[in-house]
Amino acid sequence: MDKLVIEGGHRLKGTIPISGSKNGSLAIMPATLLASGVYTLHNTPNLRDVWTMSRLLGSMGVHCDLNGDDLFIDSSNITSQEAPYELVKKMRASFYVLGPLLSRYGYAKVSLPGGCAWGPRPVDLHLKGLEKLGAKIELDNGYVIAKADRLHGARFHFDVSSVGATGNLLMAAVLAKGNTILTNAATEPEITALARMLVKMGAKIENIGTNQLEIEGVDELKPVDETTIPDRIEAATYLIAGAMTKGKIELTNTNPYHLSAIIAKLEETGCQIDVNSSNISLEMDQAPIPVDITTNIYPGIPTDIQAQWMSYMLCSENGSSKITETIYTDRFKHVPELARLGAQIEILDSTAIINGSSLKGATVMSSDLRASASLVLSALVASGKTEVLRVYHLDRGYQGIEMKLNAVGANIKRVKTDTI
Ligand code: UD1
Repeated sequence: MDKLVIEGGHRLKGTIPISGSKNGSLAIMPATLLASGVYTLHNTPNLRDVWTMSRLLGSMGVHCDLNGDDLFIDSSNITSQEAPYELVKKMRASFYVLGPLLSRYGYAKVSLPGGCAWGPRPVDLHLKGLEKLGAKIELDNGYVIAKADRLHGARFHFDVSSVGATGNLLMAAVLAKGNTILTNAATEPEITALARMLVKMGAKIENIGTNQLEIEGVDELKPVDETTIPDRIEAATYLIAGAMTKGKIELTNTNPYHLSAIIAKLEETGCQIDVNSSNISLEMDQAPIPVDITTNIYPGIPTDIQAQWMSYMLCSENGSSKITETIYTDRFKHVPELARLGAQIEILDSTAIINGSSLKGATVMSSDLRASASLVLSALVASGKTEVLRVYHLDRGYQGIEMKLNAVGANIKRVKTDTI
């Protein structure tokens, strides 16, 4: 297992290319189950989660081959409609295969994903929505077994806006008979991108990008080539890294529009930011002004950037700031690890109060993907050396993180270790 050894105190300066979106890829890869044939997904990130999805699709007879950032997928010979626990437990997004398998084959057996590092993450909305489209669902031995002769259109309202459930229902509804209306649907860019790909494949979807999606089912779809959208969470993480180190960085191959909320908050902290169509440049020459954030569904501040923002606020020298987490109210696993670096953070229910702290290198443990990113960011400004253990969490979602950061002035070594 690898660890990262990070020497703090280096200012970041230079250009960082942003990879394709992890969550975007994980949403569009399962869409290839909807129509037999050959697809090329350009701008696919080379990440552990993409490998896991490729293995999962592979276990169903779908051939996936990542060459550079082109992912070739051949779904001509699907042999199974089952997603085993061994793969689903590694990555919750595996649950995305349920909707497309069920709508195309009338049958799917998919393991329940279980909890995750920051608490329970239910799938009730996925199942309720599929039932509304006519699926018969049984739970057996940890598996969801879903059956339907052919799904039919329906109206479905999401009690809570859910990215995964919206993606699943969208992929189910495009081949259902009749019209479906999804209200309070997720408007995250990854779902909008999925809807656009489905339309390219021949689906009929109206109001894309809004929270009311209207789908007219079709009998058949066709394979397409598609380009994955840029990773907005990776981009936000590097913007924060630039700001924390009082650096001057430029991100390329990004979509500034997807980052509007975080850019506005960074500006409030004192950063100078310029954007053009696909680049964002940031310069910071002071400790950040403390700024409160509340995580929210898109276009609000994503929960996936909460931990990194916490690291950023530790750098403020003047007062404290608050983070309120509204999506996963107990997503604070990173706090005790940040405390090992000297962070002073108090948690009151779903709010964290962050006091400016002077950080000192230590050995810390990654607990989940974004928590790991917050540890790396803190290590960039901590005095001395920090060792971040269990970086396989990071490798799920950040392509070549140490290479990208070292290229702009960080000092990070990846070390193989047998111990943890
Ligand atoms: C996706 C992202 C994840 C991000 C999250 C929130 C992917 C692969 N993952 O996860 O990185 O942190 O969106 O932006 O895209 N909920 C229910 N019942 C359900 C489903 C969800 O109550 O059936 C709740 C969840 O507990 C949570 C909220 O809805 O409070 C949002 O979760 P959801 O949008 O579904 O997250 P994921 O799709 O799992």
